[in-house]
Amino acid sequence: MHDKIIQIIQDSENFTAETLEQIEEFRIKYLSKKGIVSALFDEFRTIPGDQKKEVGQLLNQLKISLQNKINSLKEQLSNIVTTSNIQDLTLPGSPINQGSRHPISIVRKEILEIFARIGFTVSEGPEIEDDKHVFSALNFPPEHPARDMQDTFFIEKDPDILLRTHTSSIQVRVMEKTSPPIRTISPGRVFRNEAISARAHCIFHQVEGLYIDEKVSFADLKQTLLYFAKELFGESTKIRLRPSYFPFTEPSAEMDVSCNLCIGKGCNVCKYTGWLEVLGCGMVDPNVLEFNNIDSKKYTGFAFGMGVERIAMLKFQIRDLRLYFENDLRFLEQFSSVI
Ligand code: PHE
Repeated sequence: MHDKIIQIIQDSENFTAETLEQIEEFRIKYLSKKGIVSALFDEFRTIPGDQKKEVGQLLNQLKISLQNKINSLKEQLSNIVTTSNIQDLTLPGSPINQGSRHPISIVRKEILEIFARIGFTVSEGPEIEDDKHVFSALNFPPEHPARDMQDTFFIEKDPDILLRTHTSSIQVRVMEKTSPPIRTISPGRVFRNEAISARAHCIFHQVEGLYIDEKVSFADLKQTLLYFAKELFGESTKIRLRPSYFPFTEPSAEMDVSCNLCIGKGCNVCKYTGWLEVLGCGMVDPNVLEFNNIDSKKYTGFAFGMGVERIAMLKFQIRDLRLYFENDLRFLEQFSSVI
């Protein structure tokens, strides 16, 4: 039996194939259920015990070498097939489509550039935060509804670890590390436990602004925001501020810009009001300054925060928030001409 196996190993090593069918025939001949190897294993059961060890090893070796042979034959064949497919090496190559920026990236970049031109630096912070940076240091009372499970994704309780619900947490991180004057803009992804619809998503992007120095006034805030709105939506854009409430700013306001589609006349995008709501803002509450060891008698400041998806919706007339996250090329390719 020993010699028989050696003979088969040699035969199979010399085998060559030109087609896949020949390789398959080879496999069936040796390795199928009724093939030579299977018959050899049957025969193996009948040989005397003292030969079993050596013949057994040889049989296993045969099986492995047959399998390797089949694999290498297949590989050789596929190489031949692909090179013979290339008929004319001088043909021009197939075009490579260039990707484009995502609309969120386009708008975020534009916002950052507008503020960079008036001296704002960019700061970032972690998406996984603690209670202090998202709530306590921003003057949220302990029972504030925003801390509720309904809005916030908690990762751990006591001490609370959570996904930040707004980029105002970066304000706190900046105040911890630097002392005034502070003039910074902070983009980032935020998370809220909201049902996904055309107008709401549980993941979105914000850009936060913070300016702290001596004698910073509400007039500075208003002028900065007017500059921003004109840069982003066009020179003829008007703004208006409506009173609002945030725990970390006092007074607080909501900023609207004049609808750039109907030029204030009223259309279905601005819901026939002529105005579009764009961001929240206000003067930094003295409690927030004091909590972060900034002397509120010497320094004042303003802050604002906006949703990037919302601004991109207004700029590009996108009507469904879910489109941003679906990665549908028919949507994404529409922005390839915007840099
Ligand atoms: N953090 C607020 C929000 O998420 C926005 C805001 C930022 C308001 C800064 C005022 C000042 O809605």
